[in-house]
Amino acid sequence: MLPHNCILGTGYAVPPRILTNAELENMVDTTDQWIVERSGIRQRHIAEPGSALSDLATAAARRALDAADTSAEQIDLIIIGTVTGDMKFPSMACLVQEKLGAVNAAAFDLSAACSGFLFGLNIADSLMQTNGYQRVLVIAAEMLSSMVNWQDRNTCVLFGDGAGAVVLGPASDQRGLLSSYIKSDGSHHRLLYNPGGSQHPPSHENVDSQLSTINMEGREVFRHAIVSMTDALHEALKRADLTPDDLDLLIPHQANIRIIEGIGKRFKIDPAKVYVNVDRFGNTSAATIPIALNEALANGRIKPGDTVGLVTFGAGLTWSSCIVQF
Ligand code: ACO
Repeated sequence: MLPHNCILGTGYAVPPRILTNAELENMVDTTDQWIVERSGIRQRHIAEPGSALSDLATAAARRALDAADTSAEQIDLIIIGTVTGDMKFPSMACLVQEKLGAVNAAAFDLSAACSGFLFGLNIADSLMQTNGYQRVLVIAAEMLSSMVNWQDRNTCVLFGDGAGAVVLGPASDQRGLLSSYIKSDGSHHRLLYNPGGSQHPPSHENVDSQLSTINMEGREVFRHAIVSMTDALHEALKRADLTPDDLDLLIPHQANIRIIEGIGKRFKIDPAKVYVNVDRFGNTSAATIPIALNEALANGRIKPGDTVGLVTFGAGLTWSSCIVQF
């Protein structure tokens, strides 16, 4: 059997500006109480208009490289999960490659919305097994503030900006990525989408009609989130031949505290073993899991030998999971 790949280092970066629920009360018809009760979110970090997401992604990547004691030149591959890259093309991964000086890497972006990080981890793991890559950077970075309709209270209260990164390398023992799973169902793409693209290119008319902002049917997305994350976690546990009791920590996608608690309950996982930071960051899309992973390692919630479940869902619909032993 080939050795597993493992996470050698993690890092994250968020913009300094914090947007509180109290500020949102002055922007749309909402209240702090509604946002906290329905989503669990108290604040989110928001990038300054015109700032480059690639800078945030690069900062997260540098921290992950430092933690992994790895130089940029050692990186063979950079994958970035994002739907809000600096430009339509080239990929943000190429921009980050230049900023890091990762001159020996191949680099590409991956579009799986909130599932972008775990899709990236799955693909990185597979390419390492087949191409012999020794050091891979998987980054997730999103600036959803750039595509939110700030007059739409249904969506603008939910999202935040941020970036997280991990460095992968071959494990020296049987620890590492024990299993992973990716899945999609395009038939529900209209539940959560941004129509701005080649079908509706930027024009005054299209921008005025909000054709470049997020559309979401929140209640339906919520329902699908529970079903798909349940499928994903079940599948990753089965592939690793583990049960929910074997998990020392579960890090679910941080979209809504009620979805997070719902998943924990379905698998009868002690709430103390379910990581939550949605209150401080909001939903940073693909970046929620690597940000939480970095925090959990830094604050001792993950210790050597611990088995951690990662599970997400997002637009597409897409859903994904991974079991990692540290
Ligand atoms: N403030 C006050 N009232 C609001 C707000 C707001 N910000 N937003 C909506 N409402 C109102 C609605 O208009 C509705 O009013 P009505 O009954 O008069 O029509 C009422 O609140 C209830 O709306 P619901 O949609 O039923 O509220 P719900 O309890 O479902 O919570 C929420 C809404 C938070 C959006 C929830 O459905 C949810 O979290 N869904 C999943 C969203 C999600 O996770 N999206 C991202 C997933 S993928 C990714 O991460 C990119």
